[in-house]
Amino acid sequence: MKPTLPVAFPEAFVERYTSTFGEDRLNQILNGFDAKRQTWFRINLLKSDVASTVSSLKGQGIAFQMDTEFPDAGWVPPEQREALLGSNAVANGYVYLQGLASQLPVRFLEVEPGLSVLDLAAAPGSKTLQIAGLASPGDEIAAVELVRKRKFKLLDNLKRHGADHVRVFLQDGTKVWKYRPEHFDRVLLDAPCSSEGRFQLDDESTFSYWSTSKVKEMVRKQRRLLFSAVHALKPGGVLVYSTCAISPDENEGAVDHILSAFEGCLEVAPIAFDAPERVDALLEWRNKPLSSQLSGACRLLPSERLEGFFVCKFIKTASSNPPLPSRY
Ligand SMILES: C[S@@+](CC[C@H](N)C(=O)[O-])C[C@H]1O[C@@H](n2cnc3c(N)ncnc32)[C@H](O)[C@@H]1O
Repeated sequence: MKPTLPVAFPEAFVERYTSTFGEDRLNQILNGFDAKRQTWFRINLLKSDVASTVSSLKGQGIAFQMDTEFPDAGWVPPEQREALLGSNAVANGYVYLQGLASQLPVRFLEVEPGLSVLDLAAAPGSKTLQIAGLASPGDEIAAVELVRKRKFKLLDNLKRHGADHVRVFLQDGTKVWKYRPEHFDRVLLDAPCSSEGRFQLDDESTFSYWSTSKVKEMVRKQRRLLFSAVHALKPGGVLVYSTCAISPDENEGAVDHILSAFEGCLEVAPIAFDAPERVDALLEWRNKPLSSQLSGACRLLPSERLEGFFVCKFIKTASSNPPLPSRY
């Protein structure tokens, strides 16, 4: 059943995704936007450990549950959100509020001590922190952010949560490959996107900016950033691309585009994450077939547990040396 949509909800969104996904799936998406979402957190391994944080949260009387798949992740129901936010664990930076879906990209990035890692669109730094928690203190972690104000937010976040060894650059990520070609073992591109997966029907500010031209603008940025991400990655390295968008243009379209731009040097590695919210990535879009490798990508519909999200993991199988096409 379709929930009652607020008057301000963009009709173009409904039209666009009815024709893309069909009415049933669209209703599932709209019901996800209507759900009161759980608040997920991650135990910050830079400042604490699972056992002592769990015991501190219990001591403060917070009604939380830990996840069965990811031992450092947990959640509280909506009515416990304020209590969690006001807890010592949050104040001391032992716990970091981060949606379950947003935790996935780094969980599949295969970060381990001794590697160099690039976070190409980093602020406010949820995933940079997650990366830093998996690396050793001396490892190279570079976090790039284009917007000055957001860079300061990122710096503050890293400092408060014990990751001030991360190198932060105020820079256009689309240019990073020029300075560091094939330099990093791991690259994360959690791309700027239309954020459709985060819509909430009871909060107009989450969808009032949306338009089809916004989606198109994001597609252009994502393609340029992906291009840079692949070139900055060493052969044999891992790249994870993610968005919190629903639109195929920003997800399957972006993956299909980059696979053909880097044909012969990029392969999709399947994301092993089972969830009731997971649906197959599209293998056809606007009557055109997309790469069959997209079957390995993870598309998540919004629910009370998580935001709508898309994650795709790539392995760079050979050096990429094409000159920069003029359109980039
Ligand atoms: C989806 S947010 C990243 C969220 C972040 N990964 C996290 O988990 O906290 C995308 C970020 O990319 C930044 N951005 C947009 N264009 C960029 C570019 N060309 N180079 C670097 N960062 C960019 C935006 O300002 C925004 O902070």
